[in-house]
Amino acid sequence: MIDKILSYLDENKDQHVKELCEYLSIPSISSIPAHDNDIIEAARFTHKAFEAIGLASEIIEPDGHPLVYAQSEQLPDRKTLLFYGHYDVQPVDPIELWESPPFEPRIENEIIYARGGSDDKGQLYTHIKALEAYVKLGIEVPVNVKFIIEGEEEAGGEEIYKFTESNPEKLACDAVIVSDTSLYNEETPAICYSLKGLAYMQIDVKGPGMDLHSGSFGGTVQNPGNVICEIISRLKDGSGRVQIPGFYDSVLELDDAEKASFESLNYSDAVLCKDTGASGPFGEEGFTTLERMWGRPTLDVNGLWSGYSGEGAKTIVPATAGAKVSMRLVPNQNPEQIAELFSKFVEEIAPEGVEVKVSYLHGAQAVMVPRDSEMMQSGMKAMELGFGSKPVFIREGGSIPIVGTFQDCLKAPVLLLGYGLPNDNIHSPNEKFHLRNYFDGIKTTAFLLKLAGE
Ligand code: BES
Ligand code: ZN
Repeated sequence: MIDKILSYLDENKDQHVKELCEYLSIPSISSIPAHDNDIIEAARFTHKAFEAIGLASEIIEPDGHPLVYAQSEQLPDRKTLLFYGHYDVQPVDPIELWESPPFEPRIENEIIYARGGSDDKGQLYTHIKALEAYVKLGIEVPVNVKFIIEGEEEAGGEEIYKFTESNPEKLACDAVIVSDTSLYNEETPAICYSLKGLAYMQIDVKGPGMDLHSGSFGGTVQNPGNVICEIISRLKDGSGRVQIPGFYDSVLELDDAEKASFESLNYSDAVLCKDTGASGPFGEEGFTTLERMWGRPTLDVNGLWSGYSGEGAKTIVPATAGAKVSMRLVPNQNPEQIAELFSKFVEEIAPEGVEVKVSYLHGAQAVMVPRDSEMMQSGMKAMELGFGSKPVFIREGGSIPIVGTFQDCLKAPVLLLGYGLPNDNIHSPNEKFHLRNYFDGIKTTAFLLKLAGE
């Protein structure tokens, strides 16, 4: 039976790539209102893909971007798997660094280049194609399936939370499957057991009533550009340690066993340099790169603005300045509390003579998923069969905000079965998805549907 499925998948590779390319051609950027129609088109595409494999699908249109919910016939005495994914993507800037247009998928050396390839359209589409194989071959799927696909994951949207909190029965399941993380590397598949949380902040500094001549007035009034730099420079010390009082208080520390498990993965800083283009590692003293990446809270400027940054010189004291700062959190840290500590600290260190406003834009709780659930066993086995080698356990530095809510509201274990690569350039120019991972991902899901039902 599984042989038939594998043959079907093999015979339909071209078709599966073609469909994914269509999906990736829709510029469904959730954070830019000019793309709202593209968001709707991507929701419709997702909805039609579910209908094409015989699921009952609906587009749910709340105030924010639409959710797509689909389910198979729910038979009693069977386990139910809920698949989650997101059809929205990140903006494409800086566009000039793309080697081909982000929404015109290009295939080179068995790699698709397009925004959303790995994050997350390519990954979520694997589940649909795996299910299609069963349906088209008339093979009974041994589990009930449900899908909830959202369109504002990348924008910190609220709709999926509201929907989950008000529809726990509709989403009731024995396990949630999420493919929105990475393999460990090209040779080593992985299952992720912890995601970081997030507190995303904005600082706005207002100084003089307008941009001023820097000769006439420089040195006589506060300069917001200088002030934002002073503030930022006090958030961390020179060795990468965050200086906000209380920031580390509730951190779940890494124990020796976990440190040893990271160590056994033999991560090399040469890989870090290759994947990032950085000249060397840097981070909180006393921790290895993987410890910093996966197990320590971090603070980073994501954007910074003030004054004139065009060509040539313009002599001004800017009227305003600002910064966006993300803090990536680990289990036990509370995003709201951390946001408050941040605001309090920035307000305290802000000098006289400017107005400093701190806003908490959005946040997410860090998560840990159990490594000993039955579904984890099935996931490990499915991945080994799909990718041809045993997966390792990893953590990730990224966040998938809804996962914590799934755990709390649905009381079901979450399986983070990622098919991307750490160097897939997600959120960056030239995002990619390797066809091998696409095909092996589809196989993995096909095996999982079988194993979970046994
Ligand atoms: N797919 C990523 C999460 C991820 C990133 C997993 C890196 C593994 C490694 C997800 O789509 C994402 O980017 N999430 C955002 C959430 C935020 C906007 C609230 C993130 O982590 O920045
Ligand atoms: Zn994603």
